[in-house]
Amino acid sequence: MIRTRFTDLMGIDHPVVLAGMSGDTSPELVAAVSNAGGLGIYGATSDTPEQMAAAVAAIREKTRAPFGLNLLLAFVEDNEIRAALETKPSVLSTAWPRDDQDLKAIFAAAHERGVKVLHMVAAVGDAVRAAEAGADAVIAQGTDGGGHIGLIGTTVIVRQVVRAVSSVPVLAAGGICDGSGLAAMLALGADGVLMGTRFLATPEAPAHDAVKKAILNSDGTDTIVTDVGDILMGNEWPGAMARVSRNHLIERWLGRANELRRHREPLREAMFAARKRGELDEALLYWGQGAGLIDEILPAGKVVSDLVTEAETILSARLPGLVAREAPTR
Ligand SMILES: Cc1cc2nc3c(=O)[nH]c(=O)nc-3n(C[C@H](O)[C@H](O)[C@H](O)COP(=O)(O)O)c2cc1C
Repeated sequence: MIRTRFTDLMGIDHPVVLAGMSGDTSPELVAAVSNAGGLGIYGATSDTPEQMAAAVAAIREKTRAPFGLNLLLAFVEDNEIRAALETKPSVLSTAWPRDDQDLKAIFAAAHERGVKVLHMVAAVGDAVRAAEAGADAVIAQGTDGGGHIGLIGTTVIVRQVVRAVSSVPVLAAGGICDGSGLAAMLALGADGVLMGTRFLATPEAPAHDAVKKAILNSDGTDTIVTDVGDILMGNEWPGAMARVSRNHLIERWLGRANELRRHREPLREAMFAARKRGELDEALLYWGQGAGLIDEILPAGKVVSDLVTEAETILSARLPGLVAREAPTR
């Protein structure tokens, strides 16, 4: 068992968190991670309040363990934040706020309802601001990860945030897919990990089977960081680009932002249809470099238990064995 400030804070067995990926998490996936002793988070950004309530009811049917709801703050208004809090998850997970949003007020509203707050950041200044605003834990997200990211790689941002924020637990995100990743992040000073891409390749994830297969086949070099997807979707992201699958759709529109804007509506509809059909070359798909470490579709609970077992072995057997008591005689 690996016990950290984060497992103590949440009252969970393992310092492993499912990223709340909007559209790519399901009640089954969230419950599977929480039932395995991790923390499942449901991505609720694109849900109506009614859909959020239904998702939470479905999660509660499958688990009594703590779970969370994630909101990408830039794309929600106060009523949606209120609706998420009214479902009383154990955790509100937030990321990417707009400048006009008051983190302190949002976090206080969560705390008033007994809901803890995990806030994800891609820059150290934002980590300090989140801790000062009252976040219960901060997630340091590096550029290795899938989806919207900042400018700094995981090993550097995690160390920066750990050094700058000592008052609350820090989770590491971006490229972590196995027990070595967990052990490495603990060595950097993190209190746990949050994973997106690894959990996409599970039977419980709602992604199309073709996407799961593409993740298994990936060597980690088939992504690109770009704003093509956001231009296509009409999303104004506050200071992020996205790591997406580098497919025909993306390559066709690279450097053609104005044309893409002009034809956005029909192109967006065509993209949604392609994604539904599992046509990977014409769909906007997010995954991280960690896909290069994923060889098998595994039940989400087994992902959690394998990860922890491997990390325990590394921490208790391999690493202590590297520390020599005496210099070798030559
Ligand atoms: C398909 C996908 C969708 C994502 N959607 C969200 C989201 O809705 N909200 C959020 O805070 N982060 C989202 N993320 C980012 C994750 O929170 C996390 O930072 C990232 O997955 C970590 O890197 P990894 O994919 O290498 O594990 C998404 C990531 C992926 C891969």
